[in-house]
Parts: sequence; structure tokens; C-alpha cells
Amino acid sequence: MMNLFLLGSRRYYVLSMIFILLSSLLDLVNPRLIGYTVDTALGRGTGRVALLVLFVALFAALFRYLFQLTNAVGTERFVKRLRDLLFSHLIRLPYAWHRSSHTGDIIQRCTSDVETVKVFLSEQLTSLFRIIVMMSLSIFFMSKIHAGLTLIAIGFIPLIVLFSMYFHGKIGKAFMKAEEEEARFSAVVQENLTGVRVVRAFGREIDENERFEKKNYLYTRMWIRVLRLGAAFWTSNDFLAAGRTMVVSILGAVLCVRGELSAGSFLAFVAYNAMLDWPVRMLGRIISEMSKAGVSVGRICAIMNAEEEDKPETPLCPPMDREICFDHVSFSYEDAAEEVLHDICLRVPEGSTVGILGGTGSGKSTLMMLLDKLYGLSGREGMSVKGRITIGGVDLKDIDTGYLRRNIGMVLQEPYLFSRTLSENIGITQETLDMGEVKRAARIASLEESVDRFYQGYDTFVGERGVTLSGGQKQRTAIAQMLIRRPPVMIFDDSLSAVDAATDAAIRKALSENIGGSTVFLIAHRVQTLMHADQIIVMDRGRILEKGTHRELMERDGIYRVTYEMQNGLEPKEAGA
Ligand SMILES: Nc1ncnc2c1ncn2[C@@H]1O[C@H](COP(=O)(O)OP(=O)(O)OP(=O)(O)O)[C@@H](O)[C@H]1O
Ligand SMILES: [Mg+2]
Repeated sequence: MMNLFLLGSRRYYVLSMIFILLSSLLDLVNPRLIGYTVDTALGRGTGRVALLVLFVALFAALFRYLFQLTNAVGTERFVKRLRDLLFSHLIRLPYAWHRSSHTGDIIQRCTSDVETVKVFLSEQLTSLFRIIVMMSLSIFFMSKIHAGLTLIAIGFIPLIVLFSMYFHGKIGKAFMKAEEEEARFSAVVQENLTGVRVVRAFGREIDENERFEKKNYLYTRMWIRVLRLGAAFWTSNDFLAAGRTMVVSILGAVLCVRGELSAGSFLAFVAYNAMLDWPVRMLGRIISEMSKAGVSVGRICAIMNAEEEDKPETPLCPPMDREICFDHVSFSYEDAAEEVLHDICLRVPEGSTVGILGGTGSGKSTLMMLLDKLYGLSGREGMSVKGRITIGGVDLKDIDTGYLRRNIGMVLQEPYLFSRTLSENIGITQETLDMGEVKRAARIASLEESVDRFYQGYDTFVGERGVTLSGGQKQRTAIAQMLIRRPPVMIFDDSLSAVDAATDAAIRKALSENIGGSTVFLIAHRVQTLMHADQIIVMDRGRILEKGTHRELMERDGIYRVTYEMQNGLEPKEAGA
């Protein structure tokens, strides 16, 4: 998986490794040169050596610059690729997967976790490499100067590394807890911002504010814990490192006095020893932080490994203006759960309109989701599906999913508008916006009048979630959005519920004149909306109870007639009267 992400940035990483190696090497040559200069301080050639020291330092700086450049470019390219891959995978994941995941969690994985991996690659991985190079080279040069003293100097290393690993383990845990608090705290903020109307309507400002303050307090407390641990670590670590330097310096000085070490070598040794400080300290930190990156990679891979939507082996693209047939369809959202649809049998001839009436939760929307393959028909997503749905005799399973959805226009029960202009929202399926088409669709959906009243007409910006539109305007925008494509199959899921009866009638009239030969599914709670359909089905708790035309159903003593009479202010007649 990492290989896939690294495509295109690998060569930058290889280059950055080479540059860091070169700059580390040059850094390590300098103490040797200085030591040599001191030992021959009174001799000739001091000027030349000084010049060499300058050049070495200059080249070390140049390589460090090149390292940072290649590393930054490599990392940014990597992160861009990672984000691109994540997003394109996310939007291909089945609807059911999205239903079962928290948006906040997904966003955190795409931002915080990507950031953690980025830091790992740009800082930790190269640091680790640099640490290993610096440590081995310093120790090598030191051992060349004095083997015994080197052994003492590196004797401290395991102690310091273990010590910092221990601390960073603790800091890491505290950090994770702080992140969790942050997630809870942002959830409160996000919920309150999206649900601001509910907060106002119920006068919950004070309670919500208290809730926020509590979460904010917990979040702050977790961070203080992280920072306290960090402070304790760095001071005690400084103390250990200073101890190491002191021991080495004293022993070195003793050797120097005894004449076992020249002054220049002693200086060089102390310089190498000081160079060990940083890598030793960082090693423990990096080892424990690498585990954090591991967690993030796991969380990102969990998204990448989620399976995309089912694809038929040989996808078919049959004509869609054909009879649609539900053949003994049963469905439940979870294997063990109660069935939401039982044994649904329904034939919808091409070009006809079917009206679906039914109480809340009777399974109307679910039936339409199945037709649009929003819930895979294989039952792989933990859902149980029986029976089959065919269009012109071709099983839905074999039809190319993209083709199917392009040909089925669905006006969702809860329309969602993007934060773009009204015309962009209506023409969202168009590659280039055709204003003529946008206006035609808006006219059929009875939206024109409202648009005329908007200050900027079709260029009115529809806020995030379309809050500047009324419920009915939003529904009509969604209808226009679908009409612009003139799909051969149209589904209106309770799409006229938020408009008044007169507008409802006007839209239906315009629709019937404009939909041509499309097959239409019309879901409604209002009998008025669907009474002119060619066939009407009445659903109750996942079953079809009644089926027929308006006239046929009115002749029966069923739910349909009772609903009709209630909605028209008539006293429902007693059954059989
Ligand atoms: N994602 C889901 N997971 C589990 N159960 C669900 C899910 N979506 C809907 N249900 C359940 O399935 C049943 C049918 O829901 P559905 O949305 O199809 O009803 P509906 O007829 O469209 O109702 P309404 O008229 O209120 O829109 C309900 O009992 C509902 O609780
Ligand atoms: Mg519904």
C-alpha cells in the first residue's frame, strides 16, 4: 500500500537521503580538522586548514539545503497523492459504508492522520537515517581517537535511549487521549453549528454552552498533562546528557594530562561526543513516535482497504425505458434484523407512473434505494436481499452501476445542495452549464417565480447545506436538478411534501406535460399528489397491501380510501357500509 502512495515521490526521498548522508559526513570531518589544526597550531599550513574548514562547512550547509528542498518536495508530493487517492476511493465506497461511518472520524483520518504520516516521512524517517549515520560515524571517529574513552561515552547511550522511550511512550498515550478529547470537543462544536436552528428554537444556548465549556476543560487538562510530561522529560534528559559530557570531559582531561591524548585529539573527541547528544536523545523519541505514525497508517489503510462498490463481471448497458419488475424482493438492513421489505412483487410498464402511498417507515425509500443499487444487491455489506429486480428483463445485478444511476433520476427525500450558486446546483450533472436548460428545468419545477424574487437570481449563492432556501424551494431545486437530465426513469421520493397544494398541482401538471416517455415513481403521503398515477400501491410495514388505479382503490374499503377521505375532510365511511 505504501508503495502506491510513494509513487512519484520516491526519487525525491532517495535524493534527500543522499544529501543528508553527504552533509552528515562533512559535519563529521570538521572536528577532525580542528583537532589537527590545534595539534599543529604552531606549525605551517594553519591558514590552508582554516580555509578547508570553511569550505567543508559551506558544502555541508549546501547539502543540508538540498536535503531540505528534496525532502519537502517529496513529502508534499506524497501527501498530495495520498489525499487524492483517499478522496477518489472514499467517493467510490458503497453508500452503506458511508451510512455506517462517522463523518467526523473520516475527516479526522483524512487530515490529522495524513498529517501524522507526513511528519513521519518528512522529519522522523530522515531523522532516523541521519541519527544512524551520525551515531555510527561519531563512534567510529571517536574510537579512532581513544577506544577506552569511547566505550565509556557510549555506555550511557542505552540508558538515555531507554529513558526517553519510556517517557515518550507515556507522552504518546497522553497525546492520544488529548486527540480523543479533541474529537469529542469538535463534535460538540460541529453539532451545534449545524443544528444552530434547533439550539435557538429550543432555547438551549446556556446548556449547550455549559456542555462546550466542560469538553473544553477536559481537552485543556489533557494538553496540560502532555506538556507537563514533556517538560519533565526534557529537563531530566538534559541532566543525563550533561552528566555524560561531564564524565567524558573529566576522564579525557585526565588522559590528556597523563599524556595519553593530545590536546587536539581531546578537543576533537569532545566535539564528537557533543555530536552524539542530539542523535541519542532523538532516537528514543523517534522510536516511540513511529508507533504513532503506525497507528495513523493503519487508520488510513482501513479506508483504503474498504471494498468499493460491487461491479458486475460483464457490465451491461441495456435500454432503460423498459418495464421494471420487482420479483419477490425481500430486504433487511442487517442479516439478523427484521425485514424492512417482504416479498414485494410489482410490475411497472415502460413510460407509466406508479404512485406509492404508505405510512412512515413502511419501506418506500428503501425500495427506491434498491432500484438505484445504493444498497448492493449481493448482500455483501451485511444486508440480506432476496428476489430480483429487472429492467427490460435484465437483472439489475448485471447492469453497469454508473450507467444505471445516470439513467435513474432520483429526487431524494432530504435534498442536499452544495455550497455553490443556484444555477450550478441545478446543473450539477452538466459538464458545462447550459442556462437555457437550467431555466427550462426550473420552469417545470415551478422554481422560476422564486428565483425571480432572489436578489441575484440564478447566481444566488446557496449557503452550506442550502440554508438560505425554504424547504419547498430546496425540494423544487432538487426536482429541477433531476429534470435537467431527462432520465428515462424518475423517482420522486416525497418530493412535493413541502410545497402547498396549489404548487403541488402546478408541478404535477408541468411534469406530466414534460416528462415524455419516462417511467415515474411518485412517493407521497398526500393522496392528491398521486391519484392520477397509472397504478397506485399502498405499502404498510414492508408489504404491498393494495394495488390498483385510483378508481379501483376507491371502490375498496382499504387504507387508500380511508386516507383519501380523511385528507379531503370527509368522514371515513364505516367498512362495508
Ligand atoms: N440505514 C438504515 N439502517 C437500518 N434501518 C434502516 C435504515 N434506513 C431505514 N431503516 C429502517 O427501515 C424502515 C423503512 O425505512 P424507509 O426509509 O424505507 O421508510 P419510508 O417508507 O421511506 O418512510 P418515510 O415515509 O418516513 O420516508 C424503517 O423502519 C427504518 O427505521
Ligand atoms: Mg422515505
